[in-house]
Amino acid sequence: MKTVTLSTLQAFKNAGETFSCLTAYDASFAHAASQAGIEVLLVGDSLGMVLQGHQSTLPVTLEDICYHTRCAARGKGASLLMVDLPFMSNSTTERLLEDSAALMRAGAELVKVEGEAWMADGIRELTRRGVPVCAHLGLTPQTVYQLGGYKVQGRETAQAQQILEDAKTLVDAGASVILLECVPAALGQAITEALDVPVIGIGAGAGTDGQILVMHDILGVTHGRTPRFVKNFMAEAGNIQEAFEHYHQAVKQRTFPAAEHCF
Ligand code: KIV
Ligand code: NA
Repeated sequence: MKTVTLSTLQAFKNAGETFSCLTAYDASFAHAASQAGIEVLLVGDSLGMVLQGHQSTLPVTLEDICYHTRCAARGKGASLLMVDLPFMSNSTTERLLEDSAALMRAGAELVKVEGEAWMADGIRELTRRGVPVCAHLGLTPQTVYQLGGYKVQGRETAQAQQILEDAKTLVDAGASVILLECVPAALGQAITEALDVPVIGIGAGAGTDGQILVMHDILGVTHGRTPRFVKNFMAEAGNIQEAFEHYHQAVKQRTFPAAEHCF
């Protein structure tokens, strides 16, 4: 695989091609995912749940994320490394800039931040300084206590319209990529069509430009209830490398997500 950059993702979007993304928290799994052709690796704050065993992503610190970013960066190969800003990194613009700088120094190539239209100023300041941003909308796990659980967002027309407007506002502010989590498939497709930048989905239907899942979920090692949008690719694979390859191929050939994985 040639080195994946933001231009690569934009070219996929322009050509109507899909791309695959997967979380990675260390060098070995990052290497395996990259070898499988997975274009984008995310050091997600989901590490708070799948690595640390917390009930939410809120306890994850900047230091935790930086450590895993340094680890994943050593194995990422040609894949693009996206990294999550942890809970409350967006408390002030100054903190947003400093925390993003720490992530970039640790090896991030794209930072992801949760937040609606009000994040526009922060995103503008980051992009002005050469830090590319992915804006995470829909179900934002850092606000799970306000949302009252991990629930599908944008089911009602007014809320769907709001998510679309927020996405447009954040792209106008400079966001290079939008990530949509847990929205109806029709909304995922409508937002993807309305925007010129690549849109990555998780539980957002088959109509987005990219798909992302949590590594532990596709390997079937997540304990407890797994969400509807997850597929265990280990079930039919002989080993982890093959499971990553099957996932990548399924996204590229648009056989994943199927209707059963969508809202
Ligand atoms: O933290 C994470 O893994 C994420 C993805 C689920 C999109 O934000
Ligand atoms: Na996250």
